[in-house]
Amino acid sequence: MGPVAIDCDPGVDDAIALLWAMASPLDLRAVTVVAGNVPLAVTAANARRIVTLAGRTDVPVHAGCPRPLVERLETAAHVHGESGLDGAELPQAEIALAEDHAVDRLIALAHAHDQLTVCAVGPLTNVAMALVKDPAIAPKLARIVLMGGAVGGGNVTPSAEFNFYVDPHAAKVVFASGVPLVMLGLDVTEQVRPTPPRLDRLGAVDNAAGRAVAGMLRPYAARAADGGALHDPLAVAYLLAPELFEGRDAVVEIVAEGTCRGRSVVDVRGRSPHPPNARVVERVDADAVFERLCAALERLP
Ligand code: RIB
Ligand code: CA
Repeated sequence: MGPVAIDCDPGVDDAIALLWAMASPLDLRAVTVVAGNVPLAVTAANARRIVTLAGRTDVPVHAGCPRPLVERLETAAHVHGESGLDGAELPQAEIALAEDHAVDRLIALAHAHDQLTVCAVGPLTNVAMALVKDPAIAPKLARIVLMGGAVGGGNVTPSAEFNFYVDPHAAKVVFASGVPLVMLGLDVTEQVRPTPPRLDRLGAVDNAAGRAVAGMLRPYAARAADGGALHDPLAVAYLLAPELFEGRDAVVEIVAEGTCRGRSVVDVRGRSPHPPNARVVERVDADAVFERLCAALERLP
């Protein structure tokens, strides 16, 4: 796999995804942040602190869009806390924000490397803006591996998962872009929850990163209706160990307006006349994924 950029809205599960990625043999060229779980100023500050915690201040953090393309920003501070990372003891950031806007950085990386992988785990505003600002990057992206959507029901409304609900127009742009997509929706991410045996395993990670993750997961799991599913880390897990996942190629259409705003309509019966535009991941070996997460955290300072 070539160079990788992670676009995120930390957020507890984003932070865990970032730690996993920074502890792994990924050619991580940038972290780009977007407004989502909490406002942009907070997601940007959180990303800088997580990079510092991981000892990876070599990875630049770029701030992106402060609001969705069309809709007003709706956050998930009730789940992640106003800080976005409630429960974590984090170091002060040792790096400043990189100068380039996240959208410009994504475009530059796509042109510089020709086969850039984007791992998107927040609302898709930055990614969509990059594709709109410079459509020539589409064939230069190897793929977009994203956490978002659902084959079944949503977690914000009966129809919509949070990332696609917050910016449904951005999701529509991405799913119409022609870029190879891997969609990890709620159907698969909610299979990985911080159960007591897994929390015991996490408790054995005797370093600052392990303690920070354990600290974040407690309030996150208590507040989240899904018990604290590890949504975003699964996107990183897919990059590192796709063999732990199963899914199918399908046509996915995004509903941008109306009561079903943000819904991902997955053509599970293959009725569409169009060719599939996404790999829709549906199953995961949850225990294996959680063990690999803990092993990665153990590699951090
Ligand atoms: O629905 C889960 C997604 O919404 C995750 O990316 C989580 O961080 C929130 O952004
Ligand atoms: Ca997220």
